Amino acid sequence: MPTTAILGLQWGDEGKGKLVDSLCADMDLCVRFQGGGNAGHTVYPEGKKIVLHHLPTGVLHKGCINIMAQGMVIDPARLLDEIHEVEARGYALKDRLLISDRAAVTTPMHLSLDGLREAGADKVGTTKRGIGPTYSDRYDRIGVRMADLLDKEALAEALQRAIAVRACQMGDSAPTVQSMIGPLLEMGNRLKPYVADTALTQSEAIKEKQRILFEGAQGAMLDVIQGTYPFVTSSHTLASGIPAGAGLYLGVDDIIGVSKAYCTRVGEGPFPTELNDASGEALRQKGGEFGATTGRPRRCGWIDLFALRYVCRISGVTRLAITKLDVLSAFGDLKVGVGYEGWNQPGLPADIRRFSALKPVYKTLPGWKEDISKVRGAGDLPKTTREYLRFLEEFVGVPIGIISVGPEREASFFTAGAPKG
Ligand code: IMP
Repeated sequence: MPTTAILGLQWGDEGKGKLVDSLCADMDLCVRFQGGGNAGHTVYPEGKKIVLHHLPTGVLHKGCINIMAQGMVIDPARLLDEIHEVEARGYALKDRLLISDRAAVTTPMHLSLDGLREAGADKVGTTKRGIGPTYSDRYDRIGVRMADLLDKEALAEALQRAIAVRACQMGDSAPTVQSMIGPLLEMGNRLKPYVADTALTQSEAIKEKQRILFEGAQGAMLDVIQGTYPFVTSSHTLASGIPAGAGLYLGVDDIIGVSKAYCTRVGEGPFPTELNDASGEALRQKGGEFGATTGRPRRCGWIDLFALRYVCRISGVTRLAITKLDVLSAFGDLKVGVGYEGWNQPGLPADIRRFSALKPVYKTLPGWKEDISKVRGAGDLPKTTREYLRFLEEFVGVPIGIISVGPEREASFFTAGAPKG
């Protein structure tokens, strides 16, 4: 299909990067439309690990053009490091990477502000990549944009504007224009060959019916409006975020929603199906659940099908991708969240106090003992695994299109619905 999206359905870290990597072999364009260096997309091209934070995963496919669209926030210093690393691995980016001239720029001031906010009592548990303050500046109309990095006067003006507003928050630690402008201009100069009007590039590509993949970062439950606010990221992670983040109005033909076969979360905030016991620890160890960006241990728990059904509805998900199914092998009985005690609404509470008080209602399903990490087709999965997937699919009401049982490219395979039999 010409336009596809891969979106996380939980609190991020669902294994989106690996699937984007698989699908990009057949894509003309790969577009990141939100978030920034807070993402950590882990992929294993030719069996060797690489973690992408800013760059779209399509950079690992030489036939794919990659767009960092206007909805992103970009830390130029970290992006340059990433470009260097990817090119050193043999993936030349000249003429294959385009950065929106309207994308927001994270400056050292935003990193300090994120740190200051996180040192306070009501911390969110951010990745400390300056994401919230950079988006805040955009919406407060005091932000620095990629285009400003290419023009000394424009940059001085933009920095001055931001510092004037932020100084009251930062006191003596507020930076000066002089302290920031030199390095930012130098980095702008190095990034200049990539900066473009990327909305235009995409609209041309759509006219020519090129295949475009929109690569989501974070997950639905971290969406700045629909997620577990205020314990969320600062961007729109749902499919509705694609048009504004990419910079053009469009419908997406195929929206692939990615969920782990269990659930994880990093940072603060409610997580109704969290396991603070030996099973949670076993999921963490078996699943290698440590943050790709910050190294933090991830909180682990059972899959929450009620929440999954809700976000699939509001994000228009057409197919489910279930990842890390192999981690559930030999767990004994498996629980899946199917609702919450006393909660009779089809959606999720908007009020964080209510959300935090939710107690899950579980259905218990039989587990399987077999190691499934070498399975390469849905029909070869054990009977109980197939039944687990079937229950999940029927409850959520969206067909399973992809199953993943390991980090290698070939460990993700397509299926037309949960395997029968
Ligand atoms: P921020 O995006 O760094 O502001 O962090 C806000 C919240 O989103 C925190 O709970 C982070 O742990 C979470 N978060 C941000 N990016 C990711 C991600 O890529 N994976 C998982 N959690 C994330």
